Amino acid sequence: MSPGEKLTFVTSNRHKAREIKALFRSQNVKLNIHFAKTMEIQSENLAEIALFSSIDAYNYLRRPVFVEDAGLFVEELNGFPGPYSSYVYSTLGLDGLLRLVGKNRKAVFKSVVCVYGLVDRPLLFTGNVSGVIAPKPRGKHGFGYDPIFIPSGSGKTLAEMSVAEKNRFSHRGRAVRKLLRWLYKDRRKI
Ligand code: IMP
Repeated sequence: MSPGEKLTFVTSNRHKAREIKALFRSQNVKLNIHFAKTMEIQSENLAEIALFSSIDAYNYLRRPVFVEDAGLFVEELNGFPGPYSSYVYSTLGLDGLLRLVGKNRKAVFKSVVCVYGLVDRPLLFTGNVSGVIAPKPRGKHGFGYDPIFIPSGSGKTLAEMSVAEKNRFSHRGRAVRKLLRWLYKDRRKI
């Protein structure tokens, strides 16, 4: 990317926008944010969902874009709700999911970032964070499953963390840091 040219993050989620903006700002990188809902295909594969959604965003905006797709994979539930996290959140809610989880409380939050229109191929960056499902919701920050997810290495749920602290632990923080590294380090070596 030439200096001064900005990537556009396309999302309908203001929390994701805040988190990703903070990550870019911490590296002194400017970012455009475009609030819009992109097409979300039905798939068990987060990367496939992110890829189609980035193509949709690019077709609409016609400039280098990226999108992010995430899901919570609970071990005892064989990875459920995974790619269906959004639907499960709006139907069962946190309490509904908590009722399904028994003794084994291990879970992984996964994030996939897909950049489209920047180079001659889509770029995918992934970030995972392992953790456990809390016994009951705690904290008032963030969104979605934040109040019930405790990342490994912390005693707090993601909802008990500031944006900067969540970014240090989170799946999204990990995926976006890989994107930033690619943009401003690895790419120069190609
Ligand atoms: P999306 O498809 O990437 O928007 O994410 C699917 C669902 O997963 C969202 O509706 C949220 O409920 C949940 N989710 C995704 N990322 C996070 C996060 O960082 N914290 C908590 N919940 C999340």
